[in-house]
Amino acid sequence: MCCVYLQGSMRGTLVVVFQALLWPVISASALFTVGLQESVYEAELHGDVGLVCLFSKVKSLSDLTVIWSRVEPKPAVDVYRLERGTENHNYTSAMFIKRAQLIHEQLDENRAVLHLKKLRIKDSGMYRCIVKEGDDGDYKQVSLKVTAPYTPVKKSIMKTGQDEVELSCESQGFPSAQVIWSDGQNTNLTEMSNSTVHSTEEDLIHIISKLTVKRDLVNNYTCSFLVKGEIQRMATFSIPNDILPHSSTQYVWIVAVVVVLLAIVFISVILRRRKNGQENRRNESPKCALLFSHSSSAKTDSLLTVNEVRPQTCDINSEDTAEKPPSLRSMLIRQYSELDTNAEMKSRLASYALLSKEGQSLNISSILPDKKETVLLLGEPGCGKTSVAQTLSSCWAERITTDPFNIRRLHLVFQVDCGRAKGDFFQVIKSSISYEKPLDVPEFRETLLGSTDCLLILDGYQEGNKDLDETLQWFLTERQTCRVLVTSHPGKCPALEKNVRTVLQLIQKPEKSG
Ligand SMILES: *[C@@H]1O[C@H](CO)[C@@H](O)[C@H](O)[C@H]1NC(C)=O
Ligand SMILES: *[C@@H]1O[C@H](CO)[C@@H](O)[C@H](O)[C@H]1NC(C)=O
Ligand SMILES: *[C@@H]1O[C@H](CO)[C@@H](O)[C@H](O)[C@H]1NC(C)=O
Ligand SMILES: *[C@@H]1O[C@H](CO)[C@@H](O)[C@H](O)[C@H]1NC(C)=O
Repeated sequence: MCCVYLQGSMRGTLVVVFQALLWPVISASALFTVGLQESVYEAELHGDVGLVCLFSKVKSLSDLTVIWSRVEPKPAVDVYRLERGTENHNYTSAMFIKRAQLIHEQLDENRAVLHLKKLRIKDSGMYRCIVKEGDDGDYKQVSLKVTAPYTPVKKSIMKTGQDEVELSCESQGFPSAQVIWSDGQNTNLTEMSNSTVHSTEEDLIHIISKLTVKRDLVNNYTCSFLVKGEIQRMATFSIPNDILPHSSTQYVWIVAVVVVLLAIVFISVILRRRKNGQENRRNESPKCALLFSHSSSAKTDSLLTVNEVRPQTCDINSEDTAEKPPSLRSMLIRQYSELDTNAEMKSRLASYALLSKEGQSLNISSILPDKKETVLLLGEPGCGKTSVAQTLSSCWAERITTDPFNIRRLHLVFQVDCGRAKGDFFQVIKSSISYEKPLDVPEFRETLLGSTDCLLILDGYQEGNKDLDETLQWFLTERQTCRVLVTSHPGKCPALEKNVRTVLQLIQKPEKSG
């Protein structure tokens, strides 16, 4: 009796737990089932992945419900929801907004594919798909591991004592790595090393491992980064060859003294040349010409005497005031503030619709690429791509009060009309800037390629100019940070369309009738 009672109570508890876990209630007689293609997915940081659930044949897609959620780590969060054929983003967790989509075309093939892009380490976990047709449903779970390969090892050597140096290896990646040290005779030196580990902003594991060795002992030392027991990165120091050659203290002193002497001589020569140059310029300005009208220009031949003879009255900071150009940023802001944009930016933007490649409607702010990302925006001629591009740059230039694109935080924006493009990539961009002074091209290249957060808008791009296409390709792979938005007509950029991950479509909404 007692046992029967207990069993009944346990069964009751189990049912409650079962129901709580598996909303919706799945009847035991359901014929509708969900299956898996793979149960474990591995993908790289910043990459993308498609998680697949296979489901039974359905009569009509309009009655189909697909709910993808991440159930581990807790708490569970909503990733994507299709309710009876209609998308509902109301419950989507903020961390997946704009990054999670269902591939609608695959529903016809009974596949509920969740496409996650711009993967982060924190996306790792257990994902559950619930698929229902009407009240019949089933679910399955898959796990996702996001990894990042360790970066090439950065080596450095520091002198720590009279006869000791500290070797250091630095790299970052995910998941955690073990750093092993060995020498030329394959002796395991790991126990003598010391590693410091910290987590980066992107949740990568940053490791610096150090080993102190005798500086005069001829040997090789290797640090290896092992992930799950396999060597992913390694670097070797050759001692004493890798230490600065002949770095005995006396020698260093002599070198230092010689370098300082040379620098003094060099700087004084430059200064004299400059002063001389200024004097010549002074002579050209009317004020100075008056003051010095009697000092003969013949004297300028003698570099040494001219400076001493002349009084310094005309040295009115001529270099600082006259030659400092306005910054590139303020130039661009001025240039883009002049664009013809009006206060009704909002209503103008509302007349466009932005769609993903798959035809899903997106918020207009998706147009702004992430760092080092390229977004290709396609649209039929006359659909307003240029106008959207102009709105972006004038929004940046703070002409308008709202910032729907969140673009103000960028340091520079370059808007380039590719319709008139001539020459290679840098020439094309340079010619789009109305700068009074010639741009310092190497510095400009560095800005675009380096860590400045900037956006480059290539408006109306068409492939076919070999110089431009090749240098653009080169730029896209070499840049460190620059965001790139390319606008084009469908079919005009086949190579880009193939290579760029984020392709968006712009269409003009039909006028609302009534
Ligand atoms: C989302 O929420 C809004 C406001 O709460 C509501 O009007 C709308 O119907 C909801 N959408 C769906 C698909 O449930
Ligand atoms: C070297 O030593 C470390 C720690 O002492 C150990 O974890 C590692 O497995 C050893 N490696 C080899 C190749 O013996
Ligand atoms: C490792 O470094 C820490 C901090 O610098 C220090 O306290 C510790 O003694 C070192 N350990 C070894 C084995 O060198
Ligand atoms: C160090 O490595 C170099 C290159 O592999 C090799 O030629 C040299 O013999 C090694 N030296 C020692 C002491 O193992």
